[in-house]
Amino acid sequence: MNRFENKVTMVTGASSGMGRATCKRFAAEGAKVFAIDIDESGLSQLTAEIEADGGIIQTRTCNVANKDECSAAVAAAVEAFGKLDTLANVAGIVRFNHSTELSEQEWNLVLAINLSGPMFLSQAAIPHLIENTGSIVNVCSNAGLMGQAYTAAYCASKGGLVQLTRSMAMEYMKQTIRINAVCPGGTDTAMNKGIDFPEGVDWELIDRYTGKRGMAPAEDLASAIAYLASDEAKTVHGSIFSVDNGIMAG
Ligand SMILES: NC(=O)c1ccc[n+]([C@@H]2O[C@H](COP(=O)([O-])OP(=O)(O)OC[C@H]3O[C@@H](n4cnc5c(N)ncnc54)[C@H](O)[C@@H]3O)[C@@H](O)[C@H]2O)c1
Repeated sequence: MNRFENKVTMVTGASSGMGRATCKRFAAEGAKVFAIDIDESGLSQLTAEIEADGGIIQTRTCNVANKDECSAAVAAAVEAFGKLDTLANVAGIVRFNHSTELSEQEWNLVLAINLSGPMFLSQAAIPHLIENTGSIVNVCSNAGLMGQAYTAAYCASKGGLVQLTRSMAMEYMKQTIRINAVCPGGTDTAMNKGIDFPEGVDWELIDRYTGKRGMAPAEDLASAIAYLASDEAKTVHGSIFSVDNGIMAG
């Protein structure tokens, strides 16, 4: 498939996990990829791998929690490749805490990266995306659709991102732009390695959202993101697409 030939795709969280897999998928399908992350070395490695496969990529370090950096990154993508067709908001962090022990700093950090970042980037990208009948794909989580114990900030941020997706889908209903979300369940990435659980967690409560079918490979989420960003999904707008091995089934 070459669904992204002559398309410019911008991906956040590009140094690791789903963001990285999404960049590779877009590049393999002909896109010019503009990849951003706070992890510069991950971006360098990704560039080497994509270029070795004949793909086209430019990168920029960007903290998505900072509005000015988000605006500058979108401007840099348009400057580099002349337009923007897709914004994939993939970057995110998770913290496990008892709610009463969650610090103000950690609450603000999780909300800033997971919710404010996609908002800031969307604000800068939308005028360009409208010009090109483009689209936004926000990576939320099953934790944005269900209560998940010990992750109050994360759940709130992802639930907020689900509603941001729906609100923007309604606002831009009459324009040529599509706005959708993917809700992964457990996915085999760095996020799930060495999680720092607080003392005294009730594992019975955590078991509810780990699912029965194990972890998804990051590439499966990249496939879902690429589908939603592609013309194959031209009638998909305002969709909240679960890719979670059945966790949300009941
Ligand atoms: N892994 C899972 O089980 C899972 C489940 C549901 C949802 N998600 C969501 O999927 C998305 C991708 O996560 P992943 O599993 O690939 O994790 P990951 O940790 O492998 O990758 C996250 C990337 O985001 C980057 N990042 C973190 N803070 C940033 C910032 N301030 N600015 C720019 N980049 C920043 C990191 O450097 C990293 O490269 C996240 O939004 C996450 O919440 C993950």
